Amino acid sequence: MTAKYAIILAAGQGTRMKSKLYKVLHPVCGKPMVDHVLTQIEKNDIDEIVTVVGHGAQKVEATLGTRTQYVLQAEQLGTGHAVLQAEALLGDKEGMTIIACGDTPLFTAKTFEELFEYHKSKGTVATVLTATTDNPFGYGRIIRNEIGIVEKIVEQKDATKEEAAVTEINTGVYCFDNQELFHALHQIKNDNAQGEYYLTDVMEIFKKEEKIVAAYRMKDFSESMGVNDRLALAKATAVMQKRINETHMKNGVTLIDPATTYIDVDVKIGADTVIEPGVQLKGHTVIGNDCHIGAHSEIRDCVLKDGVTVTASFLEEAVMHTGSNIGPYSHLRPQADIGEGVHIGNFVEVKKAQIGKNTKVGHLTYVGDATLGKDINVGCGTVFVNYDGINKHHTNVGDYSFIGSGSNIIAPVQIADHAYVAAGSTVTEDVDAHDMAIARSRQVNKKGYFDHYPVAQAAAEAEKAENK
Ligand code: UD1
Ligand code: CA
Repeated sequence: MTAKYAIILAAGQGTRMKSKLYKVLHPVCGKPMVDHVLTQIEKNDIDEIVTVVGHGAQKVEATLGTRTQYVLQAEQLGTGHAVLQAEALLGDKEGMTIIACGDTPLFTAKTFEELFEYHKSKGTVATVLTATTDNPFGYGRIIRNEIGIVEKIVEQKDATKEEAAVTEINTGVYCFDNQELFHALHQIKNDNAQGEYYLTDVMEIFKKEEKIVAAYRMKDFSESMGVNDRLALAKATAVMQKRINETHMKNGVTLIDPATTYIDVDVKIGADTVIEPGVQLKGHTVIGNDCHIGAHSEIRDCVLKDGVTVTASFLEEAVMHTGSNIGPYSHLRPQADIGEGVHIGNFVEVKKAQIGKNTKVGHLTYVGDATLGKDINVGCGTVFVNYDGINKHHTNVGDYSFIGSGSNIIAPVQIADHAYVAAGSTVTEDVDAHDMAIARSRQVNKKGYFDHYPVAQAAAEAEKAENK
């Protein structure tokens, strides 16, 4: 078996992005571009992966972690210079090396695999992955001789008029004989329009040494899109989104309007789930079978079991168990754990709270720092008062209890099973099983008081007018 290596170039600042965030860390469908590249490379059983970092090195390393080795390119003197930094780790090794850029997020593992295979079958020292486009501006051009052999790659800024008219472009991905690569890199110069050491110049060096360079032309240009500015970022996102949505549809998920459905690359969705327009599914969200996600819901890093219904709601880092439902217009915050068959209605916020099976929290309620048992009814406008201005406190409510509307449950407090809280109560003491707590002043009716108020005069006039 020939050993396989990969080098990912990720040291550039990405000036054209006009951003504080380093270019390769800009996300496409929820994952930084350089992570997309690494993820697809990893699927090819690579022996060693080296990422060249420079601008934002610490941030890039923190993002990719131990999945790759790193070399530092302290000064960005060009792509050839960048690859040369990997010499200390790979220089003398025998095998094939794939090089990819951290700003080309759309390449698939399959393309890298095909490139390895093609390179091996041709037995050349270098194979460049090319594509054809009507609008090659900005890319390096592939210059072939009369019989189609690759002679060199010319950058946009160095191209003559004839060269610039070539529509076959360098995708920035290559496969090299590893030792030949480093041998050639030592000979490149920076006498070009940008004063940089171009990786692409190794092709001419190979030609001078009478070594053959091959080109593998891919069919789909869009996969090779390089992201240098925000326009290309949006284009790449659209391509990736289409790809993600099509995969889910092929797996049995209904997207009512794929064009307005935004699903991050690591989201998982079960069959027969229906997703309405304007939905955003983010991060590592996992959705089960037979769920219904209503229009304009946003769900980030949540787990939804089977048969869950979400109607126009915002969910983050929460769990919804089988057959539960929420909305419209409710908010689950981190550590909300919504039990089987639970109903969360409209204008409800739940934070760091467990809600037991079949409990109902129907309207205008805040549940924070609480454990609720099963089959409880929480009345409209209930507030679990969890914060004293300094600390958060916890409340427990037992099974089959009933919390009347408009109650304030002031934590910490224990409400037992089968307990009843009368509407409008402010509960500050524990309530035992089968007891009722009523904690509000009783009603007083004052005889004839209506007539003392100015409103009585207005009412009399209105009545007179109506009876005319
Ligand atoms: C490069 C290619 C071009 C190709 C295009 C494909 C060269 C000279 N040009 O151009 O032929 O069509 O990609 O997208 O290789 N980088 C470093 N260190 C450096 C310079 C760049 O790590 O000193 C990294 C960047 O972070 C980036 C990648 O290399 O991820 C490509 O650099 P970029 O400046 O975007 O090259 P292009 O002009 O797009
Ligand atoms: Ca680029």
